[in-house]
Parts: sequence; C-alpha cells; structure tokens
Amino acid sequence: MPFENLKLKVTDILKKENQPVTDKLKMICQLLKDNIDHYDWVGFYFRNGDKEELILRTYVGAKTDHEVIPFGKGICGQVAISNENFVVPDVQAQDNYIACSINVKSEIVVPLFKDGENIGQIDIDSDTPDPFTEKDERFLEFVNQEVAKIL
Ligand code: SME
Repeated sequence: MPFENLKLKVTDILKKENQPVTDKLKMICQLLKDNIDHYDWVGFYFRNGDKEELILRTYVGAKTDHEVIPFGKGICGQVAISNENFVVPDVQAQDNYIACSINVKSEIVVPLFKDGENIGQIDIDSDTPDPFTEKDERFLEFVNQEVAKIL
C-alpha cells in the first residue's frame, strides 16, 4: 500500500474513540508491518520517566529480549541522545548495535518529539538489506508527529 494511503489509515486509528493509547500504537505497528514489505518488526520505545533508558511499549514481530535499552546503547539508545533519524543499511557494519534476531539485515529509528522534546521513537527492523529511503523517513516522521498529538 502506498505511503499516502497508509497515512490516512494511521490518522483513522489515532481518531478511534475509547481505545487505550497503547492499543492504538499496536494497531499502527500491525498496519505498517502488514502493508510495507520491508518492515518485519515494528515497535515504539519511550523514555522511562526521568531515567536515561528506553522502555519498549508495544511492538509487532518476533519476540525481543530488549525491552529496556539504556541511552547511548544500540541504534535506539543513540537516537535517544542524538535526536536524529538513524538509518542503518547494514546492521553488521555497526559497532554499537543490539542484535534482536539473526534475520535482521537493516534498521531505521526515527525519534518522536512531544513539545520539542525527544520522548521516544519508532523502530523498524528489516530482513532486507538496505531497503530504507528518504520516503520511509518522511513517512515515519509523519507517523510520529500524529502519534505525539494523542500523547
Ligand atoms: N537493534 C536495536 C535494538 C532493538 S531491536 O531492533 C528490537 C538497537 O540496536 O538499538
């Protein structure tokens, strides 16, 4: 499904009444994984209060042991500090990387800002080498901006 159509579906999910936020986030993870071939694991991490660590709030894909990630550690932990998108075409080429599954070839992490503050991130793993383009970045920035509105 093209990104433009997915954007509409994302906003539809976020508009749903009487649904807990975490359920909506999970529905977005499922939507993205089901409709974008190169998205094999999709999850949202958020900062744990005042602690310098990320907590996995919800995800769709293979079970992961990495539900808590300290700031600075792995791709996710680096984005918590840098406030910038991190596109990894080849995870094997990264020194500071936390492996979740041997099938994963590439990853993209896009920070989520609320009132200008980096409070979390969307994390996508792919079993395809080097699949992410600027279109993915723009799309995931859109998703995070929309999600921020309900947080
Ligand atoms: N690969 C991530 C860890 C999280 S998993 O992708 C679910 C990282 O290096 O931060």
